[in-house]
Amino acid sequence: MPGMIPLIGEKFPRLEVSTTHGMKVLPDDYQGKWFVLFSHPADFTPVCTTEFYAFASRYEDFKKLNTELIGLSIDSVYAHIKWTEWIKEKLGKEIPFPIIADPVGNIANKLGLIHAASATSTVRAVFIVDPQGIIRAILYYPAELGRNIDEILRMIKAFQVSSKYKVAMPANWPNNELIGERVIIPPASTVKDAEERLKQYTCYDWWFCHKEIPKEEAEEARAFLERAAKKR
Ligand code: BEZ
Repeated sequence: MPGMIPLIGEKFPRLEVSTTHGMKVLPDDYQGKWFVLFSHPADFTPVCTTEFYAFASRYEDFKKLNTELIGLSIDSVYAHIKWTEWIKEKLGKEIPFPIIADPVGNIANKLGLIHAASATSTVRAVFIVDPQGIIRAILYYPAELGRNIDEILRMIKAFQVSSKYKVAMPANWPNNELIGERVIIPPASTVKDAEERLKQYTCYDWWFCHKEIPKEEAEEARAFLERAAKKR
């Protein structure tokens, strides 16, 4: 039976998990750091192997964003160990992050990772959780489509800038088609607010205002994301 799905903006549920790096308590053990928990359908499957290779290739980039990675599937810790050994031996890539073993699906059920398309394996889900343990984003991908790791890095980078300046980030930030590297002022909630915005910011209309933040933020984000993408 699927459990309640945690939602964006909620505290990540407290879970004691068994991993390839020993027991961990989520989100408590990651307090003060961002973490990305990602589930995959099964060990020893090709798309999942490409994803693990890609996540491991960007591990240092995630660390630069004060972010830890945690994998999860409905497999035993032994299967995770054998599979990661295989990845190291055959593909030359060490998997440096823990993988949660969830052989009977208890954790998967609590996180809403079992979907109708396959009642016996986890979907490709991604939870992005901030240093206070709050879920900032949840992504779901189907079994037949591997994730874009560059986009997950971009999301964390954009979240960090968004939180720092209390602004919203446009599509494809820092390279938006309309406003470039500028950022969006959150919606006005009063008539006075709406009038103020028109005086204070550059606006297409009272509900669509944007502003510049220090140039270094976008330059640094662009350089960081381009460097990470080159590791493909
Ligand atoms: C894969 O990772 O290759 C995969 C897993 C489950 C279903 C289809 C593909």
